[in-house]
Amino acid sequence: MENDIERVLLSRKEIDDQVVKIGKQISQDYAGTEPVFVGVLKGCFMFMADLMRNITIDCSVDFMAVSSYQGTNSTGAVNINKDLSRDIGGKHVIIVEDILDSGVTLNYLKSYLSVREPASIKIVTLLDKPARRKAEIYADYHCFEVPDAFVVGYGLDYNEKYRNLPYIGILKPEIYS
Ligand code: IMP
Ligand code: MG
Repeated sequence: MENDIERVLLSRKEIDDQVVKIGKQISQDYAGTEPVFVGVLKGCFMFMADLMRNITIDCSVDFMAVSSYQGTNSTGAVNINKDLSRDIGGKHVIIVEDILDSGVTLNYLKSYLSVREPASIKIVTLLDKPARRKAEIYADYHCFEVPDAFVVGYGLDYNEKYRNLPYIGILKPEIYS
């Protein structure tokens, strides 16, 4: 598995430090509210687990599963494979994503959830890859901005592999070309 990685982009330590900071910031910004963190499966699982350990206010956690991606190119279509288990009407929602790439997925998800009339919807993403943005969408919180390369690890996959790497690495292009 490690042989397929061209280089480490973000070490475990760099990720940990930044997740602590973002967790503190969100805890401050949402003090006195009881936000719902909505994780977008599967890519969010490692980031969200670490982020939640750094949230110090009352909150709840829910998950959605969407698919929009096969291999390294977005198809543009978004399917909802699993919806929320609770109503979000009147609640402050924070969507937790692994990476904001073209923005198609989050743009769709944000409008899909807005219909339920939450008090607010914000987005926290581990990685932001602004070079490839197609939809008009921004992350309210991001841990790192990354270059236009295909990255894996810490929850992110290529064809379901590499999610278990404890760091973020750039995948060797020969793996997907
Ligand atoms: P978007 O709709 O193009 O913003 O893509 C969002 C989804 O594409 C993410 O949640 C990831 O699952 C996947 N994705 C985009 N870029 C990468 C990458 O560099 N590595 C792994 N998955 C990626
Ligand atoms: Mg993925």
